[in-house]
Amino acid sequence: MIGGATEGTLSRADGSQLAVAMTAAPLVDSSGEPVGRVVVLRDVSREHEAERMKSEFLANVSHELRTPITPIKGYAEMMSRKKFPRAKEESFLAGILQSTERLERVVEILVDFAAMEAGRLKPRVEPVPVKDLVARLTDKWRQRDGEHRFVRKIGPDVPAIMGDPKLLGRSLDELVDNAVKFSPDGGQIEISAEPYANGSRSARNSRVRITVRDHGIGIEPEQMPDLFQDFRQGDGSETRSFGGLGLGLAYVKRIASVHGGDVIVESQPGKGSSFSLVLPAATAGRITEVTKRARKSR
Ligand SMILES: Nc1ncnc2c1ncn2[C@@H]1O[C@H](COP(=O)(O)OP(=O)(O)OP(=O)(O)O)[C@@H](O)[C@H]1O
Ligand SMILES: [Mg+2]
Repeated sequence: MIGGATEGTLSRADGSQLAVAMTAAPLVDSSGEPVGRVVVLRDVSREHEAERMKSEFLANVSHELRTPITPIKGYAEMMSRKKFPRAKEESFLAGILQSTERLERVVEILVDFAAMEAGRLKPRVEPVPVKDLVARLTDKWRQRDGEHRFVRKIGPDVPAIMGDPKLLGRSLDELVDNAVKFSPDGGQIEISAEPYANGSRSARNSRVRITVRDHGIGIEPEQMPDLFQDFRQGDGSETRSFGGLGLGLAYVKRIASVHGGDVIVESQPGKGSSFSLVLPAATAGRITEVTKRARKSR
């Protein structure tokens, strides 16, 4: 029940159903005689959808927090109980590390998200060499995931970008995480960077486009408009085969706009997807501006 009203469903002419809340009150004339009833029907489908998404999100958070704890605890308990051969211990430790990283990712994204919601996220903007950013990202994923081939492509004339290296690294991590999750083992994932002109010659060195491209399941056109919404997943069913919170892309989009940047998606169902972060380049003017702002806030 929402707002003390009785709920029900109405059938539309096309056969589809609409959730409604109904409130009724007697209608009286000037002498107080009942002459009828006033019935108000309110469309509550949005409230129902919000409630459904909230419980789905809470279930996803519990799942994402609980899943990595089981191996961490299990391996640590085994190692504390008895001595294992060195190779076995190393594989246990690798398992603990992997699960800890998974846990860390969920906690960090939730903490940043809460800070953004409260308007408390203060990026530490500085010039970030794109080559280093992409190299770190590729090396990390090569170590973390032996099932995909990670290919790095960086043009010779890519300028540095202005941004918070930690937040940008986390955003790119989310794009690679999706590329890995939604493409088959053995698939190639390309991480590239190039100056982004968007048609104008003079703008050539003012923005940089960093792209993560996969050859996975792709995205259906009807899914595109909801892609960056909080808690939104392509498959929100209880039987879905991919884990996650449905926050990754919403996070990337927000971090991009905090930096005055944008996200571009291109995808073909069954063929693959590419997600690009477009970010302002570190021009001399921008560096001076940020340095001045930092000095003032000291
Ligand atoms: N590279 C991709 N290929 C295919 N589908 C994708 C890709 N990236 C995102 N999607 C679709 O967009 C949805 C939203 O992605 P998002 O990263 O926001 O959430 P998620 O990956 O499901 O969960 P998490 O919060 O753990 O990232 C995904 O559930 C998936 O349906
Ligand atoms: Mg994701």
